[in-house]
Amino acid sequence: MEVISVANNKGGVGKTMQCYQLACHLANQGRTVLVIDLDSQANLSSTFEVQIQRTLIPEWLIGDVGLEDVMVPSGGKGEFHQNISLIPSSRHMANLSKLLIMSEAEIRRDAGRKERLLRIRLEEAKGKFDYVVVDTPPMLGDELIMALVASNRILIPTQAQDYSIDGLEELMDTFEIIKETENPVLEFTIIPSMVNRRRKIEQQRMEELALSFNITPPIRNLVHMQESISLKKPVFMMGKRCTGKNDYQDLWQFLDL
Ligand SMILES: Nc1ncnc2c1ncn2[C@@H]1O[C@H](COP(=O)(O)OP(=O)(O)OP(=O)(O)O)[C@@H](O)[C@H]1O
Ligand SMILES: [Mg+2]
Repeated sequence: MEVISVANNKGGVGKTMQCYQLACHLANQGRTVLVIDLDSQANLSSTFEVQIQRTLIPEWLIGDVGLEDVMVPSGGKGEFHQNISLIPSSRHMANLSKLLIMSEAEIRRDAGRKERLLRIRLEEAKGKFDYVVVDTPPMLGDELIMALVASNRILIPTQAQDYSIDGLEELMDTFEIIKETENPVLEFTIIPSMVNRRRKIEQQRMEELALSFNITPPIRNLVHMQESISLKKPVFMMGKRCTGKNDYQDLWQFLDL
């Protein structure tokens, strides 16, 4: 079972888009996928057509409920959705940090450190899924740290713009700390996201990024990509005109997924 998290502490860079396309692509290849939405905005949950009043993720992480209690089938249409199970989020997720503080003594007994909770809970998913895909919120909080500790790889969508690239430093510092202390196998990949190739400055920023990091082929900023989310159809189900298909094909090939 490979655990892949999509993360960037900057908002609106295409994390949820990436998770949706990745989970659907893997499921369409016949792999079983557990999707975990750790963001209280619950955008990924609604793209998989699952809306719930109150997520049980905090209770699951603390160990009060089991995997079967938090997991639901994807509500999406298309046969491949049968391969997707989802741990949905809701606004209640915003209370996670408070709940973790309240359960501090139990967590210390059970996990040693709260950062390890997701990794420990995912033990129960081993053997049941080929992949776990985790969407994270746009901040360096408990959810993101837990995801870094639980993952084999982190995919980092990044816009080829100054503020996005500046924000990467903070995430990279956290990545290094987690790799040194809790998770030596963790690897990361930077995905240039929502790229507008016609803008010279973006092209230049991408070239600069490529000097410091091993970056993947880019995902362009395309109207069809927004449509893919609104229609709740992954790019491979979109019509011929959807050029985003090619971007994703190149990306999956590069990532060996
Ligand atoms: N390649 C793309 N081309 C065009 N629009 C895109 C692309 N990728 C994402 N979008 C759109 O940009 C917006 C932000 O994308 P998304 O929600 O995936 O970002 P995010 O990083 O998950 O945001 P947040 O930090 O709020 O969770 C959405 O409306 C999405 O449909
Ligand atoms: Mg998101």
